[in-house]
Amino acid sequence: MQKVAIVGAGRVGETTAQILAEQETCREVVLIDIREDVPQGVALDIFQTAPFFEFDTRVTGSNDPAAMQDANVVVITAGVPRKPGMSRSDVLDINVEVIDQIIGDVMKYAPEAIVIMVTNPVDVLTYRVWQRTGWERERVIGQAGVLDASRMAAFIAMETGFSTRDITTIVLGGHGDTMVPVPRFCTVNGIPVGHFIAPNRLDEIVQRTRGGGAEILALRKNSSAYDAPGASVAAMIDAISHHRNRLMPCVAILQGEYGEDDIAMGVPCLLSNHGLSQVIDLDLNDEEKRMFRESAASVRADIQRMKPAP
Ligand code: LAC
Repeated sequence: MQKVAIVGAGRVGETTAQILAEQETCREVVLIDIREDVPQGVALDIFQTAPFFEFDTRVTGSNDPAAMQDANVVVITAGVPRKPGMSRSDVLDINVEVIDQIIGDVMKYAPEAIVIMVTNPVDVLTYRVWQRTGWERERVIGQAGVLDASRMAAFIAMETGFSTRDITTIVLGGHGDTMVPVPRFCTVNGIPVGHFIAPNRLDEIVQRTRGGGAEILALRKNSSAYDAPGASVAAMIDAISHHRNRLMPCVAILQGEYGEDDIAMGVPCLLSNHGLSQVIDLDLNDEEKRMFRESAASVRADIQRMKPAP
C-alpha cells in the first residue's frame, strides 16, 4: 500500500501511525490536524524512531487537508474524546460538526479511498460518512469490534493464564454500553471458552468488556484509551493492505443482515484490499438477537437525533 492519511494527530492517530510505520504497512503515513505545528511535531517524533525499528515508511504531518491527496486509506480520529462519566453519545453533537468538514475534504482529495472511522460515537459517525459520501459500503467502515474483542481476549487471558495468541473472541453491536460480546463464539484454540471459565465469571468478563473503554478512561482520568485502539486500527489496515481476507468485527453499514437495514453496527466482516468484502451474517440465538436489536435501537436513536447532513 502506498499511502495512509490519518486525520487527527491525537493519541489514537499517533499510535496508529507509529505501528503502521514500525510494521511498514504502507510506504507513506501523513498525519493531518488543524492544530498548528502539532501533526508536524508528532510525525517528526515518530520518524525519528526509524533508526531503532529500521523502517522506511515516511511519516509526515500537515495542517492542510490537501495532504490526504490520493491516500488509499483515510483514518478519521479527529474530534473530542469523552470525559469520565460521559457516554460516547454525549460527544455526538460536537463531533458530527468536525466530521462533516472532514468528509468534504475526503471527497475532494481522496475520492477513491477506503475510510476507517474511529471518532465516537463510531457507529453513528460511520453512518454519517456513508450517507454523506454516497459511496458503496465496502469503502466505509468503522473501528470498534476489533478493540472490544481484544479487550475481551485480554480479560480471558488474565482469567485463565493462557496466551492471548490462542484466544479468539467476537463482539457485535454498537460500540457502547449495549455492545454484544458473544461468549458462545469465543474459544481457546477452538475449545469453547466455557470449558475453562465458570458462567458467572464469564458474565463478569462480558460486563467488563462492555465497560472496557470507560474503565480505562476512569483510570487514566484525562485520556481515553489509545494503545489498544491504535493497534486495532493498524490491524485493520494491515488486513486491507495485504489483501488478507481477515474476519474482523467492524462497524459496517447493514443491508438486511441481522434483520437490520440503514444503520451502521459492529458485525463480523471480511477485510480485503477492497475494504469490506463481506458481512458475515451469523445465526444468533434468541437472547443474542434480543441484545443485538436493543443495541441497534440505541444506535438508531442517535442517528435520528443527529442534525441533518448539510
Ligand atoms: C474506547 C473508546 C475510545 O473504547 O471508545 O476506549
